[in-house]
Amino acid sequence: MGGGFYISKFVGVVGIVFGAGAVATVIALAVVYSQEVAKNEAVSPTNGGSTVKPPVTTPGGSTVVPQVTTPVIPTTAPSNEAWDKYRLPDTLKPEHYNLTLWPRLTVNAQGLYIFTGKSYVVFQCVKETDLILIHSNKLNYTKWGDDHLAKLSALGSTPVPTIKKSWLQPTTQFLVLELNGKLAVGESYQLDTVFVGELADDLGGFYRSVYLEEGEEKVVATTQMQPTDARKAFPCFDEPAMKAIFHITLLHPPTTNALVIMQKCCIMILNKTSSYCPTSFDETKKMSTYLLAFIVSDYDYINSTSDNVLIRIYARKKAIADGQGEYALNKTGPILKFFEKYYNATYPLPKSDQIALPDFNAGAMENWGLITYRETALLYDPNMSSNSNKERIATIIAHELAHMWFGNLVTLRWWNDLWLNEGFASYVEYLGANEAEPDWNIKDLIVLGDVHRVFAVDALASSHPLSSKEEDIQKPEQISELFDAISYSKVRSSIFSTYLNTFAYDNTVYTDLWDHLQMAVNSTGTSLPTGQTVHSIMNRWVLQMGFPVVTINTATGMINQQHFLLDPATAGSVPPSDFSYVWIVPIRWMKTGLLQKQTWLEDKTVTGESWILANLNVSGYYRVNYDNANWERLLNSIPVINRAQLVDDAFNLARAKYINTTLALRTTKYLRREREYMPWESALDNLDFFYLMFDRSEVYGDMQAYLKYQVEPLFKHFENITRNWTDVPNGHTDQYNQVNAIRVACSTGMEECQTLTKGWYSQWMKDSAKNPIHPNLRTTVYCSAIAAGGAAEWEFGWTQFKAATIAIEADKLRFALACTKQPWLLNKYLEYTLDATKIRKQDATSTIVYIASNVVGQSLAWDFMRDRWSYIFTQYGGGSFSFSNLINGVTKRFSTEFELKQLKQFQADNSEVGFGSGTLAVSQSIERTTANIKWVAENKKSVQEWFYAEVPK
Ligand SMILES: *[C@@H]1O[C@H](CO)[C@@H](O)[C@H](O)[C@H]1NC(C)=O
Ligand SMILES: *[C@@H]1O[C@H](CO)[C@@H](O)[C@H](O)[C@H]1NC(C)=O
Ligand SMILES: *[C@@H]1O[C@H](CO)[C@@H](O)[C@H](O)[C@H]1NC(C)=O
Ligand SMILES: *[C@@H]1O[C@H](CO)[C@@H](O)[C@H](O)[C@H]1NC(C)=O
Ligand SMILES: *[C@@H]1O[C@H](CO)[C@@H](O)[C@H](O)[C@H]1NC(C)=O
Ligand SMILES: [Zn+2]
Repeated sequence: MGGGFYISKFVGVVGIVFGAGAVATVIALAVVYSQEVAKNEAVSPTNGGSTVKPPVTTPGGSTVVPQVTTPVIPTTAPSNEAWDKYRLPDTLKPEHYNLTLWPRLTVNAQGLYIFTGKSYVVFQCVKETDLILIHSNKLNYTKWGDDHLAKLSALGSTPVPTIKKSWLQPTTQFLVLELNGKLAVGESYQLDTVFVGELADDLGGFYRSVYLEEGEEKVVATTQMQPTDARKAFPCFDEPAMKAIFHITLLHPPTTNALVIMQKCCIMILNKTSSYCPTSFDETKKMSTYLLAFIVSDYDYINSTSDNVLIRIYARKKAIADGQGEYALNKTGPILKFFEKYYNATYPLPKSDQIALPDFNAGAMENWGLITYRETALLYDPNMSSNSNKERIATIIAHELAHMWFGNLVTLRWWNDLWLNEGFASYVEYLGANEAEPDWNIKDLIVLGDVHRVFAVDALASSHPLSSKEEDIQKPEQISELFDAISYSKVRSSIFSTYLNTFAYDNTVYTDLWDHLQMAVNSTGTSLPTGQTVHSIMNRWVLQMGFPVVTINTATGMINQQHFLLDPATAGSVPPSDFSYVWIVPIRWMKTGLLQKQTWLEDKTVTGESWILANLNVSGYYRVNYDNANWERLLNSIPVINRAQLVDDAFNLARAKYINTTLALRTTKYLRREREYMPWESALDNLDFFYLMFDRSEVYGDMQAYLKYQVEPLFKHFENITRNWTDVPNGHTDQYNQVNAIRVACSTGMEECQTLTKGWYSQWMKDSAKNPIHPNLRTTVYCSAIAAGGAAEWEFGWTQFKAATIAIEADKLRFALACTKQPWLLNKYLEYTLDATKIRKQDATSTIVYIASNVVGQSLAWDFMRDRWSYIFTQYGGGSFSFSNLINGVTKRFSTEFELKQLKQFQADNSEVGFGSGTLAVSQSIERTTANIKWVAENKKSVQEWFYAEVPK
């Protein structure tokens, strides 16, 4: 479509932008894919021909940070020996593994759940060496006849050197073998080990998950390897580039299922009296260790086939019997087909298993052919699940399936390029989910879901560039730390939106993919700024942190850019950048309703028009500011398009002092007339900050009154269209906005709303078998009723939580239980979070954060966390997402000097124990608190006056 045309709907623009983007994505990916397939085929598994350099990127889950165990036998002085470094030397290359594992699903005489294993790895020597380093963490080895921890043999004709010394190096997680002679270049060797490990409940490596079924405790043995826990299951070269082929055998009780990423090749029941049977699996494709999975359970499954791919959904027997796997089964086939078309490549494996686990740290993990999920991310029940639960299931499935190609087939070389892998999957998950649920307009939600989220973090001076240097990311906890919002969402926002759209497209692996992109640009004739290439443009976005604010001055015609920092005072602490925090910005705007052609910022000037609005739908990764006169024009006739973005930009520009806080607040005045979800959600997200800063101060009353006044018509609107709350609104986002209406109306004290929610809840309390509350509304209704109620409401909620048969329902209650206003109940609930029989370990940190979000629970949670820090850290400290979320969540309200002092004290007091994957979160919290203190001092008075003045008396 040509130069400028009139667009009246937000959605229209999104369609155009993404429609164009997809073409380039396909081209670039197809090229990478075909090259990688060609390389894989060229390598024969045993005689290890060429060295495959995995071009790209990958994954998306998270793990437990390995803890440092007590040292074992450090032989030599603590020097800079190879085994003191975290990275493997480049001397050996694995070819294949033969691994047999036997998890015991009952405790042994010592009261431990364990697994035993026998494994050999065949590897090739590519550089002469007399040292073998292979990863191993928390495994105990059986010694061989020569008293060493492993047996080494040669597969070729050269004699094998004998082992001089063997020991474990716990800090760097290696099994070390020093040899009496050198291994010969080009020769293959075999290393045999026999070992035992604990099948702990720590959610990492080979671990156990426990659930109750008909009063009986059932144990599932399962895995989570990414990023660095395969070494906790068996000795292996545990780096993503060390791809190999795996032959896996599981020993398990005859009554259970064994699942591995490949299909079974045979099942032999040893004999009737034996307590286990071995199941062997087809050899895997050449793959990275972090993508392995093996599971023993007595689950059931449902299945289907799609284009010869076997699709199975596994879950607890009851969940399968209740049909909770059906939705996932229904959607998997179509999404797989979509990606096959999108990537122009068939699904690389014969089967796709997906399994729901009661205990799982991340949301899901893209193990190749055996994807693991939290129950809430896979199981759906129309009577229990809300539309947002359903959306999450569809998008997570799409995300993980996207990785089957991008990430698993083509893998990042090292974790510093994680962003590419995750960004890619996070982008295409929307396309896949859109295919599964075309009526949802799911692509619109990308702006709220990701762009706004990452803008918030990336505007801090303590942010980090997308791409780190390979040598900066070494230790396991540093790797875990990378799995944060920036990796997940910034790519989605910056690369795909800004660049890819601009050029007409797509992605990159850092250097390899840039080339493909350049080709795409050349062939489509996209014009780049003079003297620039794809490399030079993209480097500015991935090698420096943050993003710019573009200021458009319609009075002078000037346009300029500046590094956007939420707190301008932190400018001094921003690390230097090779690009001086200047970006090459694609820009497109709408002038008085006419959409202009995309160009580059440096080529542009503006002239005074009635109004100008840039960065429609945040298709570029930057914020936009205007001169006051243009702001006024926009406010007076808030254009239908981009209302959500305008609100979000205004609030953030105010935070960074580009504009007055009251100007930002003025963008919310029209909400009384607004019925759409996106602008409401955007405004509520931003007002959340005002609540956090002021809900313990005298501003609170006026703010509540203002918001109550604004939400009234929305509440009435939904009351009408749902015929007094009996129908469900049609649109997907209308259903979301109905929840907003009730949540805000009730929490700002609208009596009619509170009566409604309390009534529903007490009706349920009278007959717990009949829950009258629609699944969409449950979270907010439970919360509102429990907040208004006392011990009886809370205890009823707790009982229902324990009795819930679907995790999705349990999660709603777990959230709502944190809403009570009774400090003693909140304290009791906090204690429960560290008792795994009450709250699962996977949920502990998020429950503490829920409690901290409650104004009454805030200080209780903070005291609790400080008090138990070293316990929480050792027991729960792993989850890369959850741990930084805990620190950020508990401290997000901090806005006083006293709290800042406490926070710094907390940092100092625990420097010994450390913060693991939450290290960055601690410094971000300090930075945020400092900024909050200043903000409150500067804005409190004017904000209160504004709210006061805006409510009709
Ligand atoms: C793996 O090792 C077992 C014995 O430990 C052997 O029976 C099996 O044939 C081996 N598999 C392969 C593919 O080498
Ligand atoms: C490994 O050895 C250590 C030290 O002897 C012991 O405490 C631990 O329980 C052992 N682990 C297993 C799973 O046997
Ligand atoms: C059956 O298995 C048990 C335990 O593994 C073994 O002791 C026994 O000899 C086996 N019996 C036969 C007939 O193979
Ligand atoms: C599903 O599994 C059952 C039992 O193994 C099998 O009989 C059936 O053919 C499978 N269905 C499909 C569609 O693969
Ligand atoms: C799955 O698909 C079947 C057949 O189209 C349909 O009857 C069923 O309602 C679907 N289930 C869910 C939960 O979507
Ligand atoms: Zn992912």
